[in-house]
Amino acid sequence: MCGIVAYIGYSEAFPILINGLKHLEYRGYDSSGIALLQKGQTTNIFKKKGKVKELERYCEGKDMTGCLGMAHTRWATHGEPNDTNAHPHVSMRRLFTIVHNGIIENYGKLKKDLSEKGYTFYSETDTEVLANLIEYMYVQGEVLDAEQAVRMALSRVVGAFGLVVMCQAEALKLIAARRSSPLAIGIGQNEYYLASDATPLVEYTQRVVYLDDNDVAILTSNSFTLKTIDVDKEKIPEIQKLELSIGALEKNGYDHFMLKEIFEQPETIEASFRGRINTKNNEIILGRLTDVMPRILEAQRIVLIACGTSWHAALIGEYLIEELARIPVEVEYASEFRYRNPVLSSNDVVLAISQSGETADTLSAVRMAKEHQAMVLGICNVVGSSMSRETDAGIYTHAGSEIGVASTKAFTAQVTVLTLLALRLARLKQTIPEERFHAIVTDLLAAPEKIRTILQSSNHIQYIANKYRDAVNALYLGRGYLFPVALEGALKLKEISYIHAEGYAAGEMKHGPIALIDNNIPVVVVAPKDRYYEKVVSNIQEVKARKGNVIAVVSMGDNRLKGMVNDVLEIPESDPIVTPLLTVIPLQLFAYYIAVLRGCDVDQPRNLAKSVTVE
Ligand code: G6P
Repeated sequence: MCGIVAYIGYSEAFPILINGLKHLEYRGYDSSGIALLQKGQTTNIFKKKGKVKELERYCEGKDMTGCLGMAHTRWATHGEPNDTNAHPHVSMRRLFTIVHNGIIENYGKLKKDLSEKGYTFYSETDTEVLANLIEYMYVQGEVLDAEQAVRMALSRVVGAFGLVVMCQAEALKLIAARRSSPLAIGIGQNEYYLASDATPLVEYTQRVVYLDDNDVAILTSNSFTLKTIDVDKEKIPEIQKLELSIGALEKNGYDHFMLKEIFEQPETIEASFRGRINTKNNEIILGRLTDVMPRILEAQRIVLIACGTSWHAALIGEYLIEELARIPVEVEYASEFRYRNPVLSSNDVVLAISQSGETADTLSAVRMAKEHQAMVLGICNVVGSSMSRETDAGIYTHAGSEIGVASTKAFTAQVTVLTLLALRLARLKQTIPEERFHAIVTDLLAAPEKIRTILQSSNHIQYIANKYRDAVNALYLGRGYLFPVALEGALKLKEISYIHAEGYAAGEMKHGPIALIDNNIPVVVVAPKDRYYEKVVSNIQEVKARKGNVIAVVSMGDNRLKGMVNDVLEIPESDPIVTPLLTVIPLQLFAYYIAVLRGCDVDQPRNLAKSVTVE
């Protein structure tokens, strides 16, 4: 949520900043801005409502020189999206300029105190309050320099922040700090790059330092000092090698990142299980869990926590682990779990699932679970993310950078990894017969090829999408493993096409959603040949009897359903354990094509952000 990029060095900052903003735009895109500072001159600030291209257009023909600068792309929290509320923000005497990601929870009180001291405010943002608090500390004279003013101000702040500060009077310096909102620093030769995540850095350097909570970094073009907010003592930065390729950040000929990411799934699923399945001795290898495995096996239950699409993967994880390994599992929205005082103890294992590893609610739930002495594990896509560093152990999904705001390949990677985990636990607990294990593994290994087959039918899916593009509501139904897939299909459609869509357990349809059915509503039913097939066929008949339009995801060659429903999306047959990976693909494409046909901004749907780092 909100993207920050900053630069200090000997090159012109503007191209680096605007380029960085484009990479970070998926984090928020309602307004953006840039501040540039040259020694001995005043700070120049350029801000514009709308996407980064609006800002770029606005900057054309203006003097954008400066080797020190910061930029921001916003997802509004305090104050509507407009030029005034856009970042960077400046303090009243224009001494400090700041970009900020997160929420200052006590900003109301701070604003009141500052107002009483004569401060006035031009925006509705919490960030402007923080800029003025820093300035107030600075002009009071109790501190030596800008760094101390920042540290003292932040010690009074309640809330989350990833921020960068420039001080007009100390114009060769950038000060950055984080608490619960990520910041990465790229290290160049006499130059430093700062960003909310590593994507804008990869073009310039492979060496990166991820700030920890309460870290403060002070950067000049040739020095990097790391301290904490509370302790005025230098820390040694831990430099890591960036595991990202520039190619992953390009569309590679696809119209949208989402389409590219849908089509990448055969490879990303393969990457998720590569090196983790030993077919010779029927073993699953999850190296990072080796040390904690005894505790997982002894756990009285596993609690899966996540948000959004990751929560849908968690629901599938529940079914998988309970069916295969016979360990009780609960699934919780991280945002509920963290506030509802759950019963947790050292006998519980909490497994957090997050693509980004930065979702604020998931991270808070992780911290809360740790306070209760539960062992906390993670399934995460972004290497080096906060979640990967704060959990006791975990599994990376290795899906590569996901840029489209609507998650696709990260979901199938999470489901793949959860399948591996369930199989590993089942082997260790001896709850799975050898042949069954072998059958599932064989089908899992075959999933990428089957997905390639499904992707080949994209023209047909596009044709069906065209028939339903004007729908106002849509219903998605599935049972068993395919109930979460129905939820995910509905979420995809809702997120990117703005058609109201609900996912439901097919068996529950008669308890409410059946009232919605008429000849206008498309009902997408996930109905491959599995043990629920006959039940789902009955559900389809109930819909048809009420003149609903049924689009069914069916096993290839299912002529019975073909004759019964309006449209079919076919998938190759597979073990039911693996069908979520296959059935979700046509639903992703269906949502994608409908959104494109409706003229929606698929990669950056309105009001959403990829990484929700605020509560
Ligand atoms: C946002 C994104 C979703 C994502 C969810 C959880 O809402 O738009 O695509 O599923 O956050 O994100 P995480 O990174 O924790 O998986």
